[in-house]
Amino acid sequence: MERLQKVLAHAGVASRRKCEEFIINGRVKVNGQVVLDLGTKVDPQQDRIEVDGTPIHSEKMAYYLFYKPTGVITSVTDTHGRKVVTDFFQEIPERIYPVGRLDNDTSGLLIMTNDGDLAYRLMHPSFTIDKIYLATVEGIPSSQKLKQLEKGVLLEDGWTSPAVAEIVEKRSQPTESVIRLTIHEGRKRQVRRMCQHIGHTVKKLHREKYGFLTLKGLKKGEYRELSSEEVTRLKEMVTQRSQL
Ligand code: URA
Repeated sequence: MERLQKVLAHAGVASRRKCEEFIINGRVKVNGQVVLDLGTKVDPQQDRIEVDGTPIHSEKMAYYLFYKPTGVITSVTDTHGRKVVTDFFQEIPERIYPVGRLDNDTSGLLIMTNDGDLAYRLMHPSFTIDKIYLATVEGIPSSQKLKQLEKGVLLEDGWTSPAVAEIVEKRSQPTESVIRLTIHEGRKRQVRRMCQHIGHTVKKLHREKYGFLTLKGLKKGEYRELSSEEVTRLKEMVTQRSQL
């Protein structure tokens, strides 16, 4: 028996958090009865589960690694008709969605899946998964400023956790530098805000690594399926906290 929201997320209905909303809003029935309790446990093999009157079916779990170009919204739809990440996956039958987000003007590595449970865990702040960014910034930060980034800076939503920051390239005309920044959190526009905080505006941002995953072999706009070993490794990275 498993929690209803976990079964729904596993079936690719939506992220676990969204599925919880569906339950609270009375959109989910188990064996013909509306269920509002988030503690409800079900047997996905035996129980008939419906969302908005449509039975869920166990969709094949799909996991992809995508090289997001800039100018693409990290979303499955956009009301203004702008390009979204799922536009690149039109031949994929599963309803996949992005794990976390990259800004419209950020390029780089994005995991796409329909495994709501894994997505929920990967995004949960209690798992410290390294995310490595290359930020091209105005000017050349002093070592003192880089140390500030490493120790943590106070943004409007609180202190950032410890990070690793190093300069990988210095350029002149215009004076700018490329910083490699390793962070664990995934707050909105975090890297841009951290760099702004130390007085170095980000001109360009790219995510080159997510945990052990890299973009090796992919060009902008391309994707590949994650291997079963990679999926297992990702799951292992987020299984220590069994209460989740
Ligand atoms: N930090 C940012 O500022 N933007 C991103 O897209 C990702 C991390």
